[in-house]
Amino acid sequence: MPEIKKITVIGAGTMGNGIAHVAAQAGFDVQLVDVKQEYLDRAKGTIEKNMTRQVEKRNIPEYRMTDALKRIVYTTDMVKAISEADLIVEAVNEDPDLKFKIFKEMDKNAKKDAILASNTSSISVTKMAEATKRPDRVIGMHFMNPVPMMQLVEIVTAQQTSDETCKVIEQLARKMGKTPAMSKDSPGFISNRILMPMINEAILTLSEGVGTKEAIDTVMKLGMGHPMGPLTLADLIGLDVCLSIMNVLFEGFKNEKYKPAPLLVQMVKEGRLGRKNGKGFYDYK
Ligand SMILES: NC(=O)c1ccc[n+]([C@@H]2O[C@H](COP(=O)([O-])OP(=O)(O)OC[C@H]3O[C@@H](n4cnc5c(N)ncnc54)[C@H](O)[C@@H]3O)[C@@H](O)[C@H]2O)c1
Repeated sequence: MPEIKKITVIGAGTMGNGIAHVAAQAGFDVQLVDVKQEYLDRAKGTIEKNMTRQVEKRNIPEYRMTDALKRIVYTTDMVKAISEADLIVEAVNEDPDLKFKIFKEMDKNAKKDAILASNTSSISVTKMAEATKRPDRVIGMHFMNPVPMMQLVEIVTAQQTSDETCKVIEQLARKMGKTPAMSKDSPGFISNRILMPMINEAILTLSEGVGTKEAIDTVMKLGMGHPMGPLTLADLIGLDVCLSIMNVLFEGFKNEKYKPAPLLVQMVKEGRLGRKNGKGFYDYK
């Protein structure tokens, strides 16, 4: 097993920039890859803003921010970034075909002993492993949103993942200040198998007029002790991501109870994706 020093993160969106953030703060050299420079610029702005907030709140000293920011390289050269890493974490959109394609690319260009991880929320890690010639070194590393704040990394073992790979990734998660929890590879794993049907049910409840969005969120927040309501959470996750996960659960279990709520499908079609583009169940500036 390689000693992990260099980490490449593919996809600089909501999750990718958070993973780069915590990896750099844990002392790793990080390359963050996306298809367009403007996406990388946006990710850089987000990371700088979030680290500045940590300093202002006195969660980290300023020198740690300066050091971490220096450790992150932003690039569109995916092949080079993959070839230099000991661990590659894929965090592109939740689209199975795209993920399988990226895993083939990662396998082709990565060092022989590099580990390939996916931040997928629901897609089969076993199938991603099948797309490579190193299935024992493929694993799910499911960070939670927002990555710098959330304690959990759900580690998803493909049928082929070796115990050694698992051990390295478990240790790595701890080094990043996270607590790992192990899940078998099953649609939605543990987290989204439980969370996403609840969000979907909240959307059905809204569209049937049982309550307003505010009432639904208030019930779950104040009545159930959730830190935020399910519709606010859906906006934070991204409605396109929620829809992709529901589709994976629906297709994976072939059970009507996982059918995406029509309102969710409609909102994604209309481009209302949540916080990331300013419009979801709520409006954001
Ligand atoms: N959003 C969440 O709350 C959340 C939580 C946990 C896990 N996830 C998972 O993390 C992954 C990423 O989700 P996200 O919310 O960050 O999505 P996002 O839409 O914010 O970001 C995805 C990024 O991937 C980039 N990308 C697409 N194709 C690419 C390619 N070929 N090469 C390089 N970059 C490419 C896009 O340009 C975009 O910047 C998904 O698998 C999702 O299920 C999301």
